[in-house]
Amino acid sequence: MNRNRTIRLVLILSVVFISLTVPASDSFSQRQPNVDARINALLARMTLAEKLGQLQQLDGHADGRFKDDHPEMVRKGQLGSTLNVRGVRNTNELQRIAVEQTRLKIPMIFGFDVIHGYRTIFPIPLGEAATWDPAVVERSAAIAAKEARAAGVHWTFAPMVDIARDARWGRIAEGSGEDPFLGSVMARARVLGFQGSDYSAPDKVVACAKHWVGYGAAEGGRDYNTTDISERTLREVYLPPFKAAVDAGVGTFMSAFNDLNGLPTSANPFTLTEVLRKEWRFDGLVVSDYESVRELINHGLAANEKDAAAAGLNSGVDMEMVSRLYNKHGAELLRERRLSLASIDEAVRRGLRIKFRLGLFETPYADEALESRSIYTPAHLAAARETAARSLVLLKNEGGLLPLNKSLKAIAVIGPLADSQKDVIGSWTGDGKPEDAITLLAGIKTKVSAQTIIKYAKGCEVNDDSTAGFDEAVRIARDSDAVIVAVGESADMSGEAAVRSSLDLPGRQLDLVKAIRATGKPVVVVLMNGRPLSINWVAESVPSILETWFAGTQAGSAIADVLFGDVNPGGKLPVTFPRSVGQVPLYYNHKNTGRPPDANNKYTSKYLDVPWTPLFPFGYGLSYTQFKITNLRLSAPRIRTDGSLTVSAEVENVGQRAGDEVVQLYIRDVAASVTRPVKELKGFQRVTLQPGEKRLVEFKLTSSHLGFYNHVMKFVVEPGEFRIMVGPNSRDLIETKLEVAGR
Ligand code: BGC
Repeated sequence: MNRNRTIRLVLILSVVFISLTVPASDSFSQRQPNVDARINALLARMTLAEKLGQLQQLDGHADGRFKDDHPEMVRKGQLGSTLNVRGVRNTNELQRIAVEQTRLKIPMIFGFDVIHGYRTIFPIPLGEAATWDPAVVERSAAIAAKEARAAGVHWTFAPMVDIARDARWGRIAEGSGEDPFLGSVMARARVLGFQGSDYSAPDKVVACAKHWVGYGAAEGGRDYNTTDISERTLREVYLPPFKAAVDAGVGTFMSAFNDLNGLPTSANPFTLTEVLRKEWRFDGLVVSDYESVRELINHGLAANEKDAAAAGLNSGVDMEMVSRLYNKHGAELLRERRLSLASIDEAVRRGLRIKFRLGLFETPYADEALESRSIYTPAHLAAARETAARSLVLLKNEGGLLPLNKSLKAIAVIGPLADSQKDVIGSWTGDGKPEDAITLLAGIKTKVSAQTIIKYAKGCEVNDDSTAGFDEAVRIARDSDAVIVAVGESADMSGEAAVRSSLDLPGRQLDLVKAIRATGKPVVVVLMNGRPLSINWVAESVPSILETWFAGTQAGSAIADVLFGDVNPGGKLPVTFPRSVGQVPLYYNHKNTGRPPDANNKYTSKYLDVPWTPLFPFGYGLSYTQFKITNLRLSAPRIRTDGSLTVSAEVENVGQRAGDEVVQLYIRDVAASVTRPVKELKGFQRVTLQPGEKRLVEFKLTSSHLGFYNHVMKFVVEPGEFRIMVGPNSRDLIETKLEVAGR
């Protein structure tokens, strides 16, 4: 054996040895011990232009192709990343240029918005949050990652973890709703699903926590609008899901569009550097949102492009999405000492770190054979169907109208959303195809008996003024034993730049429901929507309402599973449903005020023209069976400020069918050195119980749950009385007291 071969063999053996002995959960630095040295070696060889090139991300075509100028830019080292370029042919072609035709052979990283599925589309994230089931949410992210990576995508711009308390804001659909605790659990689940413990794996992608930060608090719900958020609210409400993402190992962050307290979030040293880098020790990459560095000019923070580049990079935005100001002005800014080489190097280092962690230097190409095998498989569709069914929330079921009998003689299926493939998959549908989607009508048709006659009428459009279709809808309703009416919003009424000033059913849909209801037939309303809707009349007058969000590729099958009783619904609202848009922002974890609402006292905190209470509270959802939650117990009635305890309660299925209940734990710190919310979710468990079955549910409460930020922004647990509450939603709770004593 010659000497070279011996060395090679030793190297191979030691690589095998390392990969066999290092457990999957070990940190990246342990698995790739020489990454820092490799990055340093690269940095030492890179020209300034090549460094700035690594900080540039450009957009491809919507269909996945790259743009004509990309190959040449890559060849010159001027482009480190793209978004929207996908499909192995496209990514490999561009990658080949990066890896084989550039001086330093640094691979490209391909990003894409894989928000709720790549090709197999799962429910919108708000719907997934309604499962209150992090395991299924993790699984759907894992499936999305597998499909995306197989299509050459390395990086998803998800999870979107913005807390949203304003239903007008269309992007409420993309997140997990209003609560920081639920939002944190879902953030963690999604990051783990996308990345696993090692995102260099061939079925994983690196995740991106967005939009950092406060974007969901846009004034008036108007997208991209200004936010003004106190540091306490920031730390207690908006930051926790991002922290959960960091704790789960998220590789990247995206800086947002909004102005936050006078410093736009894509040039905010407090959030980008103080909190993210210094407090949380995040060592991954921060990418700007689409042109948000250039938008610093519109914000009035930068007078021109050069100022904008300096502000973005100096505040901690490493990579620029689409605008090209770092590249255009970096050299001059460096000469003028408005940028330091150290900060440019640091930004490059963070980007290279992610490329190393993705394994792109070792495995730059995707495998075309894998692409076709990994995408849209029967197993993925089955998971999408199960997840969709778990996301459905039964809002009302008077007289046990649901589930319907599969052998009814005739069923009328009505409504503008009953047979719309493009709407049912929602917004941000990745590479999903409307033609794959199973509509409600299609799902019902395959569910009912061969003898059942299904008649369909659209009735009206989602959002226009015509009632021309009402007569036919009423006619088929009259001829049926039950009517299922699908109403709500079209998919493009929520998502980015899809803001509404009304939360009512758009167009003539309410009139359609009224006309159907007037036939006297049993009516089930199936809602499809990306935000809470103020459906007061429907809630009052229609016996059964099923909230289905936009449930994805398998929506129709999953909804039919629930309507006809093959699946017992167990989802719960991740967001409060107001009675009127005038109540917004409306959220369960509000403060008490000095004058809490009192029906008998005018001078209390309420409205003249609408009750102060929500239409449906946070955490709400019914089942075809009934549950009783009793025997709330604390392992200790008194703990010290650094102590912990177990809270337990019994949940019993007292109805006739197997079903799921989500037992929810809330706390209230009754009196503290700063005022505290009336309720805060601190735990939940979704359990499945057979009829008659009773289960003990336990929650651990520690100082991290009981604490808050005091007037000097120190996280403290204060002695005093706490109320500990459990129940099936945020309103119907049983409670006991906990005393927290000083140390
Ligand atoms: C959105 C981001 C998204 C990006 C890339 C922006 O307009 O705000 O959420 O990741 O576009 O598509």
